[in-house]
Amino acid sequence: MANEQVAVDPQQRFQEFFKKEKYRQRIAQLAITGRGSITIDFEELYGFDQALAEQLLNKPGEYLQHAGKGAYEQLRIEDAEYAEKIEKINARIVKLLGKEQLRKLGSRQMAKLIMVEGIVVRATSVRPMVLQAAFKCKRCGTMNMEEQTGQFLKAPAICQAPDCGRDGPFEFIQEESTFIDSQDLRLQEKPEDLPPGQLPRTLAVKLVGDDIVDVARPGDHVSIVGIVRAFAPSLMGMGKLRTFILQLDANSAEVLGKEPETSPPTPEEEEKIHALSKDPWVHRKITSSIAPSIFGYEHIKEAIMYLLFGGVAKSLPDINIRGEMNALLIGDPGTAKSQLLQYVARIAPRGLYTSGRGTTAAGLTAAVVREKGGSMSLEAGALVLADKGIACIDEMDKMRPEDRVAIHEAMEQHTVSVAKGGIVATLNARTAVLAAANPSLGRYEPNRTVAENVPLPVTILSRFDLIFVLRDVPNKEADGKMSQHILEIHRRGVSPVEAPVDAELLRKYVGYAKGIKPVLSTEAIKRLSDFYLAMRAASETEGSPVAITARQLESLVRISEARARVALRKEVTGEDAEAAIVIMKRSLEEVGIDLSSYKVDIDLIMTGRSKSIRDRLSIILSVLMDMEKVTGIVEKDALVNELETTHKIPRAEVERMISQLLREGTIYEPREGCLKKT
Ligand SMILES: Nc1ncnc2c1ncn2[C@@H]1O[C@H](COP(=O)(O)OP(=O)(O)OP(=O)(O)O)[C@@H](O)[C@H]1O
Ligand SMILES: [Mg+2]
Ligand SMILES: [Zn+2]
Repeated sequence: MANEQVAVDPQQRFQEFFKKEKYRQRIAQLAITGRGSITIDFEELYGFDQALAEQLLNKPGEYLQHAGKGAYEQLRIEDAEYAEKIEKINARIVKLLGKEQLRKLGSRQMAKLIMVEGIVVRATSVRPMVLQAAFKCKRCGTMNMEEQTGQFLKAPAICQAPDCGRDGPFEFIQEESTFIDSQDLRLQEKPEDLPPGQLPRTLAVKLVGDDIVDVARPGDHVSIVGIVRAFAPSLMGMGKLRTFILQLDANSAEVLGKEPETSPPTPEEEEKIHALSKDPWVHRKITSSIAPSIFGYEHIKEAIMYLLFGGVAKSLPDINIRGEMNALLIGDPGTAKSQLLQYVARIAPRGLYTSGRGTTAAGLTAAVVREKGGSMSLEAGALVLADKGIACIDEMDKMRPEDRVAIHEAMEQHTVSVAKGGIVATLNARTAVLAAANPSLGRYEPNRTVAENVPLPVTILSRFDLIFVLRDVPNKEADGKMSQHILEIHRRGVSPVEAPVDAELLRKYVGYAKGIKPVLSTEAIKRLSDFYLAMRAASETEGSPVAITARQLESLVRISEARARVALRKEVTGEDAEAAIVIMKRSLEEVGIDLSSYKVDIDLIMTGRSKSIRDRLSIILSVLMDMEKVTGIVEKDALVNELETTHKIPRAEVERMISQLLREGTIYEPREGCLKKT
């Protein structure tokens, strides 16, 4: 039926479509923008001529040509001069009526025009691809033009010259050949499209044409319309394989908005959301809805709540301040860290769970990887893929050395910059981080500082708004309750504690709340600044260089804003500020600071040494240097004796500090038992 209707010349039919006012304008504007392609909304074409639109889907190769030619004819009418100049127009189709699931692509869709959505995980740099290759016959000198299709550069079979006709040899002449920009992408299923418990699948996408390359970067969510193709990979020396690999030859690529696409709440859900926000116990209710099967850890769950809602990002003309929070859980083995992280990754819009090592070559940030063909590709890591979401990084201490460097930028500036292998790019990583790490010594040693307990550099530690320690200490009462809780789970197979807010509603609630941008009230500002100044003052009188830094003040603001968001309030109240101060104090206390006297020594947490320890370290160093002046190389025993007798520093303490200085490379051991300053 449909076929009979298209008895009219398809090219003419397309040209009629382009006579619509909107498309006439688009065509007329081509000269201004200097473009050689026209974008067609499929829906409009479908409304105009259903049969034509269906043919376009079924025979895209042919019908895209018709569309391009139709547009070109119209261009000749609108702007003959520009038509002369560009010779042809490419038709780019966007917004098909339905999208295909990436994992369902198969032989059924082959050679058809389809639309898929996904995340770009990898992109090569833009490379020229030969469209028409010029081959010079080495026998007669004739230039042969050879149209190129397929993966490999193809030389002519025989020379075109009538008096030659020999089979070469031919030489490829680059200057006479025509090239077009091309780029390869790897598209991965979006987490929201992923069936639970499945690994995401990927699809190779080929972009050809200067108007569609470089549109999308790794980490971008895109919608791609293209023709499904399959090619047979060849096995070295054995020919082509019978099983083909799918590839999408892109016709158009559009970058989608970064907001997670949770379906908007229904009117009933909206009613529930508002009712919950009015509840005076809303914070308590949401906290106890987070991982209800995990016993205890109320303060950590509260922190996770703030992390889910997040503070307000400030984008000023000169600087950007992140709104997303970062939290770190340091804990003994078996304290439910992984469970908490996995829970958060499931519940958070655009949540992602990964281990510190990362699951791909790109690790946590990004990497430049070499493709099979030898070309370089930029691959997005976890923090880029979780842009505008939450990245749950388990075993963060085990991250790759490259990530250790790059993560600094990612966690504060929220970008990842790469300049390697000819690829220079900055990717967005506006990601909240919930990380977990095991203590360096297996178990958390409360007498040691956080920096000593965690194998992470202090520069990374200081980027966490909140740090909590999960210790597994035997405690009769708590153990009793906990074992009862866990055994109950195992006996009944359900959580003994019911979540006041179910996960689905919570996810919707978070999405809804993100639209609110609370502003600090005068009262909130006063409380935060009072707290900040008191702590700064306390440290000043102590003689400690810095007590609490501007970073902590910004953290307090983020937490207060997040708390206001939880209640869907546009104003951050004094109460929000107070709660932020309480949880911040708790975090500082957990990492070993006695706040009762307001004497916080952030140096202790962040550099891992209190002022007194630092003083001692500098004594050790100066004694070592003094002794070096006399003996050159200093024997360790001599140094320890000297410090013990003249400076009254206990032997054990000296030993510990020496090994610390050795570890961080301030001093080294030129030979066994001897020390020297670096
Ligand atoms: N507070 C708790 N409430 C309920 N279950 C708990 C609690 N603490 C530990 N568990 C249980 O103990 C098990 C171990 O937890 P998990 O694997 O998350 O530990 P972890 O902190 O990640 O340890 P590791 O550092 O060794 O990776 C889980 O099955 C978890 O449910
Ligand atoms: Mg674990
Ligand atoms: Zn020839």
